[in-house]
Amino acid sequence: CIFYFQHLKITGTLALSVFTAVLGSLQFGYNIGVVNAPQKIIEQDYNSTWMERYAEPIPPQTLTSLWSLSVAIFSIGGMLSSFSVGILSEFFGRRKAMLINNVLAFIGGGLMGMSKISRSFEMMILGRFTIGAYCGLASGLVPMYVGEIAPTTLRGALGTLHQLAIVTGILMAQILGLESLLGSEQLWPVLLGVTILPTVLQMTLLPFCPESPRFLYIVRSQEHHAKSALRRLTGRLEVSEDFAEMKEEKRKMDMERKVSIAELFRSPLYQQPIIISILLQLSQQLSGINAIFYYSTDIFKNAGVESPVYATIGAGVVNCAFTIVSLFLVERMGRRTLHMLGLAGMCICAILMTIALTLLETVPSMSYLSIMAIFGFVGFFEVGPGPIPWFFVAELFSQGPRPAAIAVAGCSNWTANFLIGMSFQYVANLCGPYVFLIFALLLLFFLVFTFFRVPETRGKTFDQISATFHRHPQNMMDMDLDMDQGKHSTELDYLGSDGT
Ligand code: GLC
Repeated sequence: CIFYFQHLKITGTLALSVFTAVLGSLQFGYNIGVVNAPQKIIEQDYNSTWMERYAEPIPPQTLTSLWSLSVAIFSIGGMLSSFSVGILSEFFGRRKAMLINNVLAFIGGGLMGMSKISRSFEMMILGRFTIGAYCGLASGLVPMYVGEIAPTTLRGALGTLHQLAIVTGILMAQILGLESLLGSEQLWPVLLGVTILPTVLQMTLLPFCPESPRFLYIVRSQEHHAKSALRRLTGRLEVSEDFAEMKEEKRKMDMERKVSIAELFRSPLYQQPIIISILLQLSQQLSGINAIFYYSTDIFKNAGVESPVYATIGAGVVNCAFTIVSLFLVERMGRRTLHMLGLAGMCICAILMTIALTLLETVPSMSYLSIMAIFGFVGFFEVGPGPIPWFFVAELFSQGPRPAAIAVAGCSNWTANFLIGMSFQYVANLCGPYVFLIFALLLLFFLVFTFFRVPETRGKTFDQISATFHRHPQNMMDMDLDMDQGKHSTELDYLGSDGT
């Protein structure tokens, strides 16, 4: 294992730093998955609080509204906070911003964990909002930090670890949420409160991780500190080759004005990459994946599956397994190919799901097809559309515009997440078995978009990637040609901007 790591040029410091950062992603996933199983039990508590206060049972409509709010306010927290990722990461630095973010996790976890004892669903809702705000910041800060400390040849694989931690978090929440574990009447506050544990671990470990050398040098002009961070991350004393690339990026950045969010949309240099970033995030969320992760138990039940809770956990396992597959493929097959493969596979599975739901009445064994279709849907999601959009944004932009771009992309992701979370059940009631056809159409659109518009970034330095857009926007496909003709080198990390 040590030999393998050395071969990949993963030093202990790099491994520790990535592990510590993705503890934030683990919490993101955990809090996505945690509300699925214990819904009925927490609703009972809302009801008894209502009884105590007003001496009558809670009206069903009010209960549904309170529960939907408890679930969806998480994405509103994420939507609002993800927008400030740029400002925080520039002001405090990547590492300190992650450290400070933990305050939100403490408050959020604390509020949710204490809400039962305090007999207050308001505390639960506020806690979900706060932990959502934590996750919104983490969803920007983690890929940014990991992308900046990773060697070029491993940027995709290490970037995928953000998603791997998310899916592990979802699975942990699904398992711990079983009634026989923490999803019980007495223990659900613990289920929601344990999100504080990874926070404590992250706070303990972060001081041992170096700040991003790119941030130290390109943004703060601290050459000495940047070099020593680079030495720790690469395990080499001689870092001048790695440094040359950062120097070139800084030289170019010093010539540019500071890039604001508005500038991203105005400047012809950034228009193309920001549109691509937003559409990739939308392709992730509008694929319908969270319809599964928020409502799978219900979907399986409607599809005639006998033990929907276990089928949900099955989906969580498939989710993890295929993220690992992507981890190994992303530096070999490239981002573009995997993203397209994932979208195409999901599209086919969505159609199969529609067929299964339509025929369910007449052919009962269709429930098996629906399980297979959902497992396939989730598996293909993790091959590309799950992990890739998160780290792709950090790849498409150089140091100057990167924080603003990550903020915009993150906010689009959370907004779409919120829309699906809020509307899926209504749309499903309206469209019946045809609801997955809507996702199939959207997936087809994103597939065509990716084919025509999304460039390959594998093996390229940040500088080389942004140069592609600086030449001609339509030259994005040139990158693929360059790649196919073997102009990239997957053996070299931290390539110089001229390829030396
Ligand atoms: C991605 C999405 C998230 C989704 C998860 C499922 O990380 O951003 O919304 O729940 O994948 O694995």
